[in-house]
Amino acid sequence: MVKKNACIFISGQGSNLKNLIQKSRDYNFPIKIRLIISNNKKANGIKYAKRNSIPCVIVDTKSRNYEYKIFNEIKRYKISLICLAGYMKILSKKFLNFYKQPIINIHPSLLPKFKGLNTFSRIIKNGEKKAGCTVHYVNEKLDGGNIIVQKTFFLDTDENENSLKFKTQKLEYSAFPEAIIKIYRKN
Ligand code: GAR
Repeated sequence: MVKKNACIFISGQGSNLKNLIQKSRDYNFPIKIRLIISNNKKANGIKYAKRNSIPCVIVDTKSRNYEYKIFNEIKRYKISLICLAGYMKILSKKFLNFYKQPIINIHPSLLPKFKGLNTFSRIIKNGEKKAGCTVHYVNEKLDGGNIIVQKTFFLDTDENENSLKFKTQKLEYSAFPEAIIKIYRKN
């Protein structure tokens, strides 16, 4: 199988990145992770790049034109899929217009509910019965693009933010790879 070159964007822990690196070792998984972008030089996820010898570019989002730097790297590595895996920065309209190939994001809620930040605390406060995660295409609207995969579970009566995060992320580790497979599945 000819694998597509993918780039994973991270900002922090990198557990989804770690999971995708593992999945991508499978001969039948459609992507090869060629590049990692982090907007945080202290992100834990950078260590997975090092351990797996994947080039990692750290960008300073305070510098003007940092997206231009990202775009050049994306071109250099012939990236045909961008996966936002806990990348806590919004891509500009300009970037979305330049990069014509799929960009997907994972979000820890059942979109369109609970877009944006502090998802878990808002879910608990709102007394939700169901929670889950969503993988969707990225467009100009925050957490607003078409949904590719969504996975759901029912909250326990004594659910708290930590348990909710744990259960949600466990689902993310199957949702993200499934979404990537779905994108390249031949109809
Ligand atoms: C994930 O739970 C992801 O859904 C969330 O950040 C976490 C990153 O974890 N993304 C967002 O909240 C984006 N709005 P990881 O760094 O361990 O993969």
